[in-house]
Amino acid sequence: MTPVTDTTAPVLAIDGPSGTGKGTIAGRVARHLGWQTLDSGALYRAFAFLAVENSIDPGDAEGLEALSQSSVIQFVAELDGVKILVGDRDITDEVRSESGGRNASVYAKVAVVRKALLRRQRSMRRPPGLVADGRDMGTVVFPDAFLKVFLDASPAVRAQRRYKQLKGKGFDVTLRALEREIAERDDQDRNRAVSPLVPAADAIVLDTSEKDIGEVFAEVMQFVNEQLDPEKTPRS
Ligand code: C5P
Repeated sequence: MTPVTDTTAPVLAIDGPSGTGKGTIAGRVARHLGWQTLDSGALYRAFAFLAVENSIDPGDAEGLEALSQSSVIQFVAELDGVKILVGDRDITDEVRSESGGRNASVYAKVAVVRKALLRRQRSMRRPPGLVADGRDMGTVVFPDAFLKVFLDASPAVRAQRRYKQLKGKGFDVTLRALEREIAERDDQDRNRAVSPLVPAADAIVLDTSEKDIGEVFAEVMQFVNEQLDPEKTPRS
């Protein structure tokens, strides 16, 4: 059964390129508030994985549409992140790899894919609230989010962070390859015609290059509290 979307549930949108700590911050804030999370990147990764597995070309709009109707992608919350399932198959490791990110970025350019995944993303909006992270949470998916944060960092710092993260998960990667990968994916995500990676006009942009996760979490929580506490919210 498709869950009923509750458009009154508050949404915190956290956007930005890869390696800025979005996913970690989104998870921490959601745990702190007791809210749901939406890792929209995982959805794009899982969809691209299925498209590649079924040999559906990014130019095949009909095939992609049919895949979006037939595919059942599930997310299961675990202590160290989210497990991604297709039916009863665990595809977490495949989709979390760098090639998983590259494929996601290729299929994410296709309008029919973005349209198909839009409803699924919005259906995650349920009380008491949702923390959604991705590229277009504040601009397209949840334009009425009560707070939009855009996390950024220098490409060198982001490559270092991804390197540590992937090494920690046992992936065989090099810093050089990651720097190249990040530059390519940035270029693709920022310059695509549909839902390009840009901060929403009303987003707070935070450069996290010189900050650790604890500092970024504290700053984001301060913005959240200011918005959620009516005493601190400016009255019109
Ligand atoms: O966030 P993550 O690195 O997992 O995202 C993988 C890719 O999925 C991104 O590089 C981007 O191309 C695509 N994506 C997107 N819109 C989102 C989330 C992810 O286009 N909201």
